[in-house]
Amino acid sequence: MNILLTGIDGYMGWPTALKLSQEFPDERIIGVDNFSRRKWVKECGSDSIIPIYSMKERLKVAKEHGFENISFIEGDLTKKNFVDKIISIHKPEVVLHLAAQPSAPYSQINGAKATFTQKNTVLSNANIMWSLREHELTDTHFIETTTTGIYGAPNIRIGEGFVKVVDGDGNSDVLPFPNIASSWYHVSRGFGATNMMLMNMQTGMPCTDVRTSIVYGITTEETTLDEHLTTRFDIDFYFGTLFNRWCAMMIINHPLTVYGSGRQIKPFISLEDTATSLVKIVKKGNKGEYKVYNQLVEYVRIKDIAEWMNSAAEELFGKAPGIEYIPNPRKEKEESKYSFENKNFLKVLGKPKHTSMRDALPEVLEKLKKYEDRIGAYRDRLIPKKR
Ligand SMILES: NC(=O)c1ccc[n+]([C@@H]2O[C@H](COP(=O)([O-])OP(=O)(O)OC[C@H]3O[C@@H](n4cnc5c(N)ncnc54)[C@H](O)[C@@H]3O)[C@@H](O)[C@H]2O)c1
Repeated sequence: MNILLTGIDGYMGWPTALKLSQEFPDERIIGVDNFSRRKWVKECGSDSIIPIYSMKERLKVAKEHGFENISFIEGDLTKKNFVDKIISIHKPEVVLHLAAQPSAPYSQINGAKATFTQKNTVLSNANIMWSLREHELTDTHFIETTTTGIYGAPNIRIGEGFVKVVDGDGNSDVLPFPNIASSWYHVSRGFGATNMMLMNMQTGMPCTDVRTSIVYGITTEETTLDEHLTTRFDIDFYFGTLFNRWCAMMIINHPLTVYGSGRQIKPFISLEDTATSLVKIVKKGNKGEYKVYNQLVEYVRIKDIAEWMNSAAEELFGKAPGIEYIPNPRKEKEESKYSFENKNFLKVLGKPKHTSMRDALPEVLEKLKKYEDRIGAYRDRLIPKKR
């Protein structure tokens, strides 16, 4: 079996490649990336706080540790000729599509970044699925990590992709949950989800839409084997995700910055559980459905996270960085009864390794301590620039 993994150079992609290799040692894992994430972060004046190695070095060291079946192709998935070439040569049975410009704040910088983000998401998604269709590979399992952000922040419980709707006459139907995202990035993932539904309806292509929540953490079992196998870890305003950025703030005793009231509820999953569940979704397969999983383990109010992290810093380092409430740079609903279904997802994942961010905190801090000076050097990148 050939498994095509797009976005292999990314935060989630590299650990997922190692786990896929471990789980499917006799299959081929073909990674694709154009290294744009490295470039975007640099463009925002930052860098991965944990230095990462080139793909060539990563693959060499991975091989030495027994991950022998990973290969790499550099290229841009928005170019249909490139996609056609890899699909026609490798004829993958599974495509795990992780490549995207994943930052909401980056997509909000200006019109050029908003349209770039949307073009990058939609063209990559459609090019791969259409290439599979045009090469008569509609049995290939197409899996894409979209986002829980598609759901917005409604006052109803969020099902796994669908919602029951009743009209004024009492007629009811189960419909795809509307795309009510609050950034140009998040909305673009809803376009991809609709395309998957359409391709599945027209051709029966098995399409799995993994609505990924906010991923936190620094390592997986495989990335800890060697320093060269580490994945990227960003802490800047544009690319650092909430928990990861706050861990960096704890290390340099910088106040934990909460956007707006902090009453927003957000969903989370650890990097280890993210990569494990993606491998399990590949293993489980899909018999021709459009299937949605809410890839999350917990959902928590932002100010609650800030409060326990602040107390944890006091316990661990003897001083609390404090919490600073700043005007919300995002236009988002701060109050809602936000809650999630994730039963189908948990059935696939099994017992999570991290049931809460609290489990992961000591390990992340331990690993980050070594980079205190580097975090300090990028201190000005932690908080939003006034625009
Ligand atoms: N990390 C999270 O918290 C999170 C949450 C929800 C959804 N997701 C989604 O999961 C996926 C992986 O996220 P991540 O955090 O690893 O992001 P990432 O930016 O680290 O990884 C994405 C990779 O895709 C590559 N890429 C982007 N556009 C490309 C193109 N046109 N052609 C080839 N390669 C391209 C980038 O260079 C990067 O290495 C993304 O689709 C992201 O939107 C992530």
